[in-house]
Parts: sequence; structure tokens; C-alpha cells
Amino acid sequence: MSRVAVLKGGRSLERQVSLRSGARVQDALERLGHEVLPIDVGPGLVDALSAQRPDVAFVALHGRDGEDGTVQELLEVMGIPYTGSGVSACIRAADKVLAKHAMRDRGIPTPDFYAFNETAFEALGAAQALPAIEERLEFPIVVKPARQGSALGIKFARTPGDVPSALVAAFSYDRKVLLERYVHGRELAISILDGTDGSGPAALPIVEAVPKEEDFYDFESRYEIGRTGFVCPAELDDETASRARSLALDTYALLGCAGFGRVDLMLSIETGELYVLEVNTIPGLTETSLLPQAAEAAGISFDGLVARVLGSVAR
Ligand SMILES: Nc1ncnc2c1ncn2[C@@H]1O[C@H](COP(=O)(O)OP(=O)(O)O)[C@@H](O)[C@H]1O
Ligand SMILES: [Mg+2]
Repeated sequence: MSRVAVLKGGRSLERQVSLRSGARVQDALERLGHEVLPIDVGPGLVDALSAQRPDVAFVALHGRDGEDGTVQELLEVMGIPYTGSGVSACIRAADKVLAKHAMRDRGIPTPDFYAFNETAFEALGAAQALPAIEERLEFPIVVKPARQGSALGIKFARTPGDVPSALVAAFSYDRKVLLERYVHGRELAISILDGTDGSGPAALPIVEAVPKEEDFYDFESRYEIGRTGFVCPAELDDETASRARSLALDTYALLGCAGFGRVDLMLSIETGELYVLEVNTIPGLTETSLLPQAAEAAGISFDGLVARVLGSVAR
């Protein structure tokens, strides 16, 4: 039995999801016999941790501060062991531009892209380079903020006329954005869990997300039951499934992830090629989230999942 602080909430745009993930983790920890210290993360975080001195922190935060290495850095300073990836993996995974450069350098397929800071548009006339970018990426082009999750700020530009407003939307979430080649295909998510007995990370059954209404599933449909269909295990031929799993594991290792994570991929309908979109270092843990669904398909209950993530913490 340990004294486990559950870090949840925070001020990111994914606060509500995190509160739900955190509440569920707390219930599981209690059933597992641990003493639970819930903390809604805010300006009192360091004081709360100093006062309570937990044995370990279960980080159930998503998005800015919680998933980008900030909270992890504070936990390092305070000497409190914590679940999931360390600071450097969080920093790299939370920034799609850093993550995609690492993938491209290593030969892991990720959709072609160009990334710019706001300064490139303000001070260097980057807008004048848009026709060249559009020619290389071809329409539709996906425009997204570098550091944001849950599809917030992501727009599909279908014509040159759509690009400026898509950029404005993405820049409202981050000072850095990327323009990315669109992959027409199926959307796959591969959750990864580290082994508890020192064995390496393993991929859970693949989940396919099938949007029911929108062009792609947006923020609301992602968390509303019934608006996105999920198939687990995804219906894939053995060769594609094993390629997807090994790509996901390679990306997880490349970024230095630990404990658990989820890799989002696209499977091109036209070519059968797989492309890695991103890695989530703290995947959602709500009733409708993909990692718990994948764990269940592998015969791992939610309590079992929480126990395993806690058990993988290096102490
Ligand atoms: N290059 C792309 N081609 C096709 N669909 C994409 C592409 N990039 C993103 N999407 C769609 O947008 C969703 C969110 O994109 P993603 O890169 O995973 O960012 P996040 O989940 O952090 O918001 C994906 O799950 C997919 O449905
Ligand atoms: Mg994603």
C-alpha cells in the first residue's frame, strides 16, 4: 500500500477530461488498497505536495503543463516518483513539430509537413511561401497547432482560400503551427504498456476510430458516447497490424516514453502505407477513452491497468 497523490484537472483545455480520468483513477487506487491524495493542480501544487509528501504521484493530467513536462519537472525537483514518461519524452511528444522531426530523422513514416512560428509570418513574409507549400503538400492540407491535443485548433484546408483562416485558428492555440499532408484513410490508435517485471513495452490490441458524422472526430464527438464508433481489435490483416504495432513501439522508444502511452496513426486507403501522427504520453483514462478499451480487449481490467502503470514507476 502506498500514499498516492492523484494529479488531475489543471488549467489546460483538457481540464474536464482530466477530472474524469483522475476520478476514475482514484476509485481504482482505493479499490487496490492505496491511500489516495487527490490534487486539483493549480498554484498550490508545490505546497500541497510538500505538505502531503506522497510516496508516488499518479499524473492524470492532459495537455499543457500536465503532459508537456512541466509538472514532471516539478515532481523531479521535489524528488517524488511519478507515473508515465519523464520530462524529456513529455517535451518531445507534446510538441508535434519536435516529435515529427525526430520521426523523420529516424525514418519512421509521418505525413510530410512544414512548420512555422508566428514570427515567420510577422517578420519574414512566410505568407508568400504558402503557394509553394500548397503545391508540395497538395490539398486538402491539415493545419494544426504544434502543442495542443484533442483535435483543438485542427482544420482541413480544401482550397488556398481556406489556408489563412486555418492558420489563424491554429495560431490561436500556439505560437507554432504545422501544415501537414492529408492522409485519406483509417484512423488507428495503439496503446502501449510497459511490462511490470522489467519486460519491455508491449502494444495492446489496436483501436480503430470510425467517425460517424463529422469529417473527422472533433473535440465534442471524441468524448460524447455514441458519436464515434470504436472497433477493437481493429479489423486489419496480420501484416498491417504487426507493422502498425512495431511502428508504434519504435516511436514510443524513439521519444523515450515510459510507463504507458498511445500512438495515433493513419492507414492510407490508397497506398496501404502507415503514418504516425503523434504520441500521447498521458492518454485519456475516461470510460470512453481508447487506452482502457484496448486494455479491456487484452483482458486487463481498469484496476489492473492502474496497478500496472503504478507498478512501472521507477523508484
Ligand atoms: N495528416 C492527417 N491526415 C488525415 N487526418 C488527420 C491528419 N492529422 C490529423 N488528422 C485527424 O485529426 C485528428 C487529431 O490529430 P492529431 O495529430 O492526432 O492531434 P491531436 O489528437 O493531438 O489533436 C486525428 O486523429 C485525425 O482524425
Ligand atoms: Mg491524436
